[in-house]
Amino acid sequence: MTKGELLYEGKAKKLYATDDPALCIMEYKDELTAFNALKKATMAGKGKLNNLVSSKIFEHLSALGFPTHFIRRLDELNQLVKRVTIVPLELVVRNLTTGSICKRLGVQEGMRLPRPLVEFYLKNDALGDPLVLEDHALLFGWATEEELKQMKKLALDVNKALSELFEKLNIFLVDFKLEFGKDRDGNLVIADEVSPDTCRLWDRTSGDRLDKDRFRKDMGNVLEAYEEIWRRLEEMKA
Ligand code: TMP
Ligand code: ASP
Repeated sequence: MTKGELLYEGKAKKLYATDDPALCIMEYKDELTAFNALKKATMAGKGKLNNLVSSKIFEHLSALGFPTHFIRRLDELNQLVKRVTIVPLELVVRNLTTGSICKRLGVQEGMRLPRPLVEFYLKNDALGDPLVLEDHALLFGWATEEELKQMKKLALDVNKALSELFEKLNIFLVDFKLEFGKDRDGNLVIADEVSPDTCRLWDRTSGDRLDKDRFRKDMGNVLEAYEEIWRRLEEMKA
């Protein structure tokens, strides 16, 4: 499979066409950004680690029967994925309060929620990906009622599956972001990536942050944390 036209370049990945109109190649970059790209850095090896971690997680989700865009990892930086139209919404699932929810609502940090919370954000860099209501999505045509219902159910099911997976690695899945795409037949699939860039992952014993918060908050050892996530996932085998 060879790369064709560059279809899209985001903050952490590039998407290329292939000679098969139903498939794309997704290439991971070494760039790290935070706060809607106000903060930027390049870390050699970050792309490779996110490719490894996300491939492993998508393989796990596919094996559990979740619909995803993922086909296979091609090499260090590239994955073969289904070509989809991205739904312009990001779903964030939270099991514990931290990050933007504390700033936005003034709620206490580190509160374990009685049940997982699902939030919808509009994918729009110019607006800084604002929080939106399901009714906004419906009325402005970003998704149908059925799609919202399906995405919310998938997000909660993924939360359960990944919380269990990470628990085996002695990691608490604090929160994460999911994106969805629609394939040629209009089916919703989980798209983009699931990696330490898009999740908060805390060691259950030490409380160590093993995710992009190390970069956001200048905590140091960013790559070491990503490596630790990969090491534990790889060790787990199957
Ligand atoms: P937040 O607390 O900053 O809203 O982040 C919630 C979760 O979503 C966290 O695991 C990081 C992830 N996330 C992304 O993957 N991309 C984003 O652009 C943002 C803002 C958060
Ligand atoms: N991904 C977003 C950015 O690049 C925000 C974040 O993850 O903190 O700015």
